[in-house]
Amino acid sequence: MSDSTAQSSTSGPRAKDPGRVLIFDTTLRDGEQSPGASLNLEEKLTIAQQLSRLGVDIIEAGFPFASPGDFEAVQRIARSVGSQDGPTICGLARAARADIKACAEAIAPAARSRIHTFIATSDIHLRHKLRKSRKEVLEIVPEMVAYACSFCADVEFSCEDAGRSDPEFLYPVIEAAIAAGATTINIPDTVGYTTPAEFGALIAAIDANVPSIDQAVISVHGHNDLGLAVANFLEAVKNGARQLECTINGIGERAGNAALEELVMAMHVRRQYFNLFLGRPLECPDPLTAIRTEEIHKTSRLVSNLTGMSVQPNKAIVGANAFAHESGIHQDGVLKNRLTYEIMDARTVGLMDNRISLGKLSGRRAFRSRLEALGYNLSNEDLNAAFARFKELADRKRDITDRDLEAIVSDQSQQVEATFSLELVQVSCGTNMHPTATVTLRNIDGEDHTAAAIGTGPVDAVCQALNHLAAVPNELVEFSVKSVTAGIDSMGEVSIRLRHGGRLYSGYGADTDVVVASAKAFVSALNRLVATTRAAGLNPQQAEDCLEAGRGV
Ligand code: KIV
Ligand code: ZN
Repeated sequence: MSDSTAQSSTSGPRAKDPGRVLIFDTTLRDGEQSPGASLNLEEKLTIAQQLSRLGVDIIEAGFPFASPGDFEAVQRIARSVGSQDGPTICGLARAARADIKACAEAIAPAARSRIHTFIATSDIHLRHKLRKSRKEVLEIVPEMVAYACSFCADVEFSCEDAGRSDPEFLYPVIEAAIAAGATTINIPDTVGYTTPAEFGALIAAIDANVPSIDQAVISVHGHNDLGLAVANFLEAVKNGARQLECTINGIGERAGNAALEELVMAMHVRRQYFNLFLGRPLECPDPLTAIRTEEIHKTSRLVSNLTGMSVQPNKAIVGANAFAHESGIHQDGVLKNRLTYEIMDARTVGLMDNRISLGKLSGRRAFRSRLEALGYNLSNEDLNAAFARFKELADRKRDITDRDLEAIVSDQSQQVEATFSLELVQVSCGTNMHPTATVTLRNIDGEDHTAAAIGTGPVDAVCQALNHLAAVPNELVEFSVKSVTAGIDSMGEVSIRLRHGGRLYSGYGADTDVVVASAKAFVSALNRLVATTRAAGLNPQQAEDCLEAGRGV
């Protein structure tokens, strides 16, 4: 990027310039659209609370019109996380009255709330999806933005598929949205099609060609189909974007969204480089975002545990190997001076802070206060259950670390809203015998049912016995075990994904016994499957499909 571009994007007073880069987290909306990542209400609340501790500016909590479950989740998050000094709570709405009204109601309890409304602007979407002309879209935009503004002063408007839209059409659409009251204009690369130079140029062109653009914050949203989302966003920042829509671990529709942790750390590590583009002096020490970077790792683990979407080991910033040095030459260099092969300190993202916190003799009060320090505020009932789990673990494991506590809380939040609860698991296996499992499941009416099965291994035997009892057809498509901490007495974490009716359902379980952890993970995935089928909750894409098919949602 030439210096002249840096100059043009920062010159002149901008009424709406936040002076830094706002982080808009959409893990609970776009992230939850990842196949198999659906979350229950308690899990959404837990993640929203952690996002607030992480310091995101805006939480997109869901799509209220999509289903009663989504509506309730957004409303609960607005009520309990949207405090005066907390993040803005945002809901998504198509550019349609019923969507906008539902969204306004759901976000109303938050001290600071936002309606995010969108309509497609690319010719491909207009012709094949909306079946509307440019003229019609240009009429809908100001009408719906003004309608949203009648409920909420903070309105974001998105031109869906902006990355493939004709800029000459985008300019008047954006101008109309701003005139009708939109305070943030979002430019999504919905299908992850653009390259960094193109995306940067699009933002610069919008900045230059929309006369009222200084009345709004320019935001970007993008998918990772070509692996370019983060690079595209950084180029957008250089050209005037001041809000980034991203998700933890980059989860989201198809190849996912831009990863929050990568964006934030790129701007943290390369602050001097980005300072100039924000019109700051080169050496300005102020952070470019409000993110508390030490919370990054914890947030990543929480999202991975609750969504069942494992993080690949070589993933930047949060992967298990992100700070590991394997080759002798690198190890030698790092021992001599860390700067030889490290561009950031693992502690900056909260990685090394895995203190031994509690032991067998620790009481309930110490347990509660450590959980609170870790950011978990459990209800009395949940605290009692978690404390019982902790005591059980402390009998088997000498030192309990913060990671163990996180695993207990994640495991427990999977039990909420359960149709089935696991009451007993017994396996016998070894050389020269058939692995056999006996399991007891309690159903929603409190009745216990027991079954036994033989499998190819102990986990297979357990899953077969559970399947026999639950009687919900499914296919196990993913199974991963990892240890929470080092050491032979460590807890094992199991993530499972089941496929049913073309959809994926994930489950998580933690225990010092990996067979028990597997059984818990399997039951939590079954519970999700049953709950989703029952509620028939729809995500935005499905709602869209219903709309196109002429059905209501
Ligand atoms: O990808 C997309 O275009 C979206 C919009 C709703 C912002 O998710
Ligand atoms: Zn998206």
